[in-house]
Amino acid sequence: MTNWIPACRLDDIEQEGARRFDHSGRTYALYRSPDDEVFCTDGLCTHEAIHLADGLVMDYEVECPKHSGMFDYRTGEAKRLPACKNLNVYPARIEDGAVLVELPG
Ligand code: FES
Repeated sequence: MTNWIPACRLDDIEQEGARRFDHSGRTYALYRSPDDEVFCTDGLCTHEAIHLADGLVMDYEVECPKHSGMFDYRTGEAKRLPACKNLNVYPARIEDGAVLVELPG
């Protein structure tokens, strides 16, 4: 079962930026793309559990702040070592200026 959860306002995320979102004991990262779409991934890097929302967002990728592993935040694909395991991604959408994410449970 999944639920659409209000996470923040679109304006709370910089364009080409990320924001941490914690829910039900798990942490996620929200991203705002250059064309103002929103995306959601697991919040922690798959290499060493560092918060990706603290990383650098460029176009459609996020660079982990610890060892510069890179992920495509649209698909979760690990694009650069040492990150080699993909992130889970979750549906996200904008409704009346609010960012909603569809999370398990
Ligand atoms: S902790 Fe993210 S690349 Fe190492």
